Amino acid sequence: MALALGVLISGRGSNLVAILDAIQGGTLDASVKVVVSNKATAKGLDLAKARGIQTVFLDPKAFAQEINPREAYDVAVGEILQEHGVECVALAGYMRIVTPVLIRMFPSKMLNIHPSLLPAFPGLDAQKQALEWGAKVSGCSVHFVTEGVDEGPIICQKSVEIKEEDTVETLSARILEQEHHLYPQALQFMAQGRLQVEGRTVRILP
Ligand code: GRF
Repeated sequence: MALALGVLISGRGSNLVAILDAIQGGTLDASVKVVVSNKATAKGLDLAKARGIQTVFLDPKAFAQEINPREAYDVAVGEILQEHGVECVALAGYMRIVTPVLIRMFPSKMLNIHPSLLPAFPGLDAQKQALEWGAKVSGCSVHFVTEGVDEGPIICQKSVEIKEEDTVETLSARILEQEHHLYPQALQFMAQGRLQVEGRTVRILP
């Protein structure tokens, strides 16, 4: 059975497209059941729609009156994912901190991609952080989502050399190219049931 995926986005959606391409190309045994965005203008929503994928824009403002707006929003996101039969959630450029209430709905089934070699440079503007630090190597990481931001067990990583002439744009572009290979690969390990978490270590079973 193909892995039933839900993808959460906020913007461009190039990782989402890489996932869809891998599914189409037969290297990822999954199916994207729904794409949810917290931004109405996310380009990824249009890209998904163009491929016949169900999309939902869920406006955080609609939850502003709730006692705990962030949790209420995440409960609603979780319900959408469950209604679409999602078993595994991929955060792909999702610019919101996910609260425990949503993480607990998908235990060990929520992944994120981050444009650095974690635990270096977590949080926003990871590529800029790497350049400003003077790092010679950066890259990207796919990890499980846990309550601490960018802290979950690492599934796989790919390094990218930093060149002296790099700008945030050139480095981001080279890292992004690697992200587009790494994320579908990590999801395929998940689809094959090959990911085993032991504390902080993720084993990829043969
Ligand atoms: C990527 O660099 C990803 O690592 C980070 O946000 C960016 C999303 O890009 N979390 P896209 O929307 O997938 O094009």
